[in-house]
Amino acid sequence: MASVEKTSHEKPLLEISGLKTVFPTDDGIVNAVSDVSFEIGPGQTVGVVGESGCGKSITGLSLLQLVPSPGRIEAGEILFRRNGDDEPLDIAQVSPKSELMRQIRGNEIAIIFQEPMTSLNPVYTVGNQIAEAIVLHEQVDKKTARERAIEMIARVGIPAPAQRVDEYPHQLSGGMRQRIMIAMALCCSPMLLIADEPTTALDVTIQAQVLGLMQELQAEMGMAIMLITHDLGVIADLADEVVVMYAGRVVERGTVDDIFYNPLHPYTQGLLKSIPVLGKTPQKTLPSIPGTVPHPLGLPVGCSFQPRCSERMSECEQMPELAIVNAEAESCRHAVRCWLHTDF
Ligand SMILES: Nc1ncnc2c1ncn2[C@@H]1O[C@H](COP(=O)(O)OP(=O)(O)OP(=O)(O)O)[C@@H](O)[C@H]1O
Ligand SMILES: [Mg+2]
Repeated sequence: MASVEKTSHEKPLLEISGLKTVFPTDDGIVNAVSDVSFEIGPGQTVGVVGESGCGKSITGLSLLQLVPSPGRIEAGEILFRRNGDDEPLDIAQVSPKSELMRQIRGNEIAIIFQEPMTSLNPVYTVGNQIAEAIVLHEQVDKKTARERAIEMIARVGIPAPAQRVDEYPHQLSGGMRQRIMIAMALCCSPMLLIADEPTTALDVTIQAQVLGLMQELQAEMGMAIMLITHDLGVIADLADEVVVMYAGRVVERGTVDDIFYNPLHPYTQGLLKSIPVLGKTPQKTLPSIPGTVPHPLGLPVGCSFQPRCSERMSECEQMPELAIVNAEAESCRHAVRCWLHTDF
């Protein structure tokens, strides 16, 4: 588990509350993200997990005002403390195309995606692309930017950086391309890195190397990471806090220990049962949660998980609130959205 501990008196870097992001479509309004609330402390790693379509990427894109059109943030706050104790800035109120948002993107909050080939431009050398990211945010000349690009390529562990700098994306392996993406994201020392399935497209050994690199750079640079993945094993290794999403909502959140040793939501429990355990006799099929994620335009009444839930009861016809598990304990941040754990 990650070693960077957030001290309780430190104010969060990012406080997301009641975030709602929608897509108007011909068939109706898709609520991609509904009432999502969680915090990211300085230097902390927050893992966001959940099955495909539960709103992980749209949450990440909302934080940078990068929701693809016609999607839009409809409600909520994204409070960002750019300078420690100063009055936070509400990113949800900043215009996506403004100069301020451009400055925040890359300089202060950076993002990397699953497939580097879609984010890297095939017609420019990787060196040019890193240098461009540097020039965009800092007042340096082209020569300095190129030197910095070589330094960054070396820093992300790619051998022979002085040669690699002049190569094109297709000349590099998948793992190297993802390292280049990390170099581009980190060249301006952001306070927060949003990593959306950064290693899903890579094979297992390369995956471990790239995650190890992210951890190393985090320890060196002190940035916070929002790590989006459907791999709970990765979360167990890297995260301090975990946010579990289902059908656009946070269904449970807490520390890694809360989520792994005391999971309360039947959905979290189901996800945990489907992790293969190293050293145990391999099973032919891992237990998985029966049924499928509902379509966002046909969500069930009440709790979105209830049709798949083995502990369903009559209360589940109403949507439960996300509630702190032990409200009396001051330090408790473990919260769950489930009638089984809600006081009537
Ligand atoms: N351009 C769009 N138009 C309409 N609906 C969209 C659009 N983009 C995303 N959605 C919907 O928003 C919801 C959340 O999508 P999102 O991409 O955030 O899921 P995810 O958790 O990242 O899934 P995955 O694990 O597959 O990456 C989904 O139901 C999806 O269908
Ligand atoms: Mg996604």
